[in-house]
Amino acid sequence: MPPPDAVFEVAGQRTRPVCRTRWILSSRGVHHIGSGGTVAYPRIAVTFTDHDATPAVPPTPARAIRTFHPRRGRMTARQTDALDRLFPTYGLDVPDGPGDAADLTALFGRRAPVVLEIGSGMGDTTAAMAGADPDRDYLAVEVHTPGIANLLDLVQRHDLRNVRVARGDALELVRRLPVGSLDAVHVFFPDPWPKARHHKRRLIQPAHVALLGSRLTPGGTLHCATDWAEYAEAMRETLDADPDLVNLHGGYAPRPAHRPVTKFERRALLAGRPVTDLIYRRR
Ligand SMILES: C[S@@+](CC[C@H](N)C(=O)[O-])C[C@H]1O[C@@H](n2cnc3c(N)ncnc32)[C@H](O)[C@@H]1O
Repeated sequence: MPPPDAVFEVAGQRTRPVCRTRWILSSRGVHHIGSGGTVAYPRIAVTFTDHDATPAVPPTPARAIRTFHPRRGRMTARQTDALDRLFPTYGLDVPDGPGDAADLTALFGRRAPVVLEIGSGMGDTTAAMAGADPDRDYLAVEVHTPGIANLLDLVQRHDLRNVRVARGDALELVRRLPVGSLDAVHVFFPDPWPKARHHKRRLIQPAHVALLGSRLTPGGTLHCATDWAEYAEAMRETLDADPDLVNLHGGYAPRPAHRPVTKFERRALLAGRPVTDLIYRRR
């Protein structure tokens, strides 16, 4: 059985950072799964965390709800070429399930503050921000292959040494990152999932925010932007409620000059949807 001081993690609810020796309660009873092990029970109810053992990758919730639609997209010849040539050097695949913890120092070949951009789309923002900020490393994560390929092409065209591109589910990637390892997390124009029955697919929701916050270093920032007014309100409510985060502007942030205007944002503005930024600091 887990020790009396074990920390409980309830699937789908707020989780605490630092997952070490793990215990799992399933319909088949309580199991000790050690560190670095993996879990594939069909009905995970509760996990227990004992803070005394070695770091491990927290278990992925069974049958996780995806925040994205798998999309097919045509690639240009240039993107196909960039993907083939550059992904082996600048890319990493996020395992869709159990896998090893990510080693950011090995990934970038140096120890520098790391910015994670979730849902980097075509990569214009990542490329522009990384180019203007060479002392930090930028890890973009996306599921849309043409976007990944486009960013790799930009990386080569602009000779960016501080960018890496992860292919796969951002939440799976974040679970594999060490606690306190990120200087910033950027979530720009996440899919708004406007229908109420789809809100459970939104990236910004309490359990995901707790996970992201746990990977930020104290003082690190979480920066979100959206053109969807109702999502902006919901984001603000969720982020304000997180005990580990402080709203740097007490409300919506003034548009920061360092966030480039993308085609996506231009389209929103043309359609009359104002863009909102929210910036929080990890306590
Ligand atoms: C509306 S687009 C915005 C793209 C980009 N940030 C921009 O501003 O142009 C949202 C992107 O997030 C990606 N996305 C959504 N959930 C994701 C996840 N869990 N992991 C990786 N990418 C995700 C989608 O594939 C999509 O490209």
